[in-house]
Amino acid sequence: MVNNKKQAIGIFDSGVGGLTVFKEIRKQFPSEDIIYFGDTARVPYGPKSPNTVLEYSIQNARFLIQNNVKVIVIACNTSTSVALDVLRKLFNVPVIGVIEPGSKKAVNVSKNNRIGVIGTEGTIKSKAYRKTISKMKKDSIIFEKSCPLFVSLAEEGWENHEVASIVTKEYLSEIVKNEIDTLVLGCTHYPILKDTIQKFVGKKITLVDSAVEISKSLKEIINNDQNTNVNGENYFYVSDNENKFKKLASRILGEKIELVQKVYLGESWFLKNNEG
Ligand code: DGL
Repeated sequence: MVNNKKQAIGIFDSGVGGLTVFKEIRKQFPSEDIIYFGDTARVPYGPKSPNTVLEYSIQNARFLIQNNVKVIVIACNTSTSVALDVLRKLFNVPVIGVIEPGSKKAVNVSKNNRIGVIGTEGTIKSKAYRKTISKMKKDSIIFEKSCPLFVSLAEEGWENHEVASIVTKEYLSEIVKNEIDTLVLGCTHYPILKDTIQKFVGKKITLVDSAVEISKSLKEIINNDQNTNVNGENYFYVSDNENKFKKLASRILGEKIELVQKVYLGESWFLKNNEG
């Protein structure tokens, strides 16, 4: 158990989507300090190669370690699918990702063992959910589908727009024909479209939100003092576009986010020397 009040919980994501994870963790751990890093300069990770995502993930985790975090939460499904094991080997703090908790929940709620998984191209290609779910329950039958446009719809604030319904129908019509009773939202952005997705798939299919599940896993690692009256601090860092992040973050979190700091993770002579 980690219990050092001076250290924060570190969360990273490819951008703004991981705030769905931040929101759940903030709810569960009101007195903890949280450092969130969104790699807004290099988002999206979904279509990128595993090695590129791995390299970015190592840099993101190193930034959090430099800020003295006591645990690293990989909010990004794409990063989790390629980088979890490497980050666990490289760093001396616990590292948790969204795939195991999401898979565990899916296995627990599914009655017919027919489970759907949706995520980015990278996550689906990695087969990380398939492998994890099959390990937990051998006779599971898994159906996967990448839904890349969901990310843009969420970023655009179009989660309830009719375009979202059309895209949802296009992506999910086939997968629901397989009589799945559980659908894992295997991407940070998809919980933002939860209502639209649930409306299309119907009430008989249970949606699994990895953001909720990972915050439960964190409880097994952090012994936080829920009795304290002190509210934890939030620290938001991004690699680009802090104003866009502020706007989206305020919408996703339902409160005004004013302080967001920009940081440079890679060697970037031009940016370091030409921007204020
Ligand atoms: N954060 C990514 C994930 O959960 C979605 C956005 C992206 O493609 O970078 O997989």
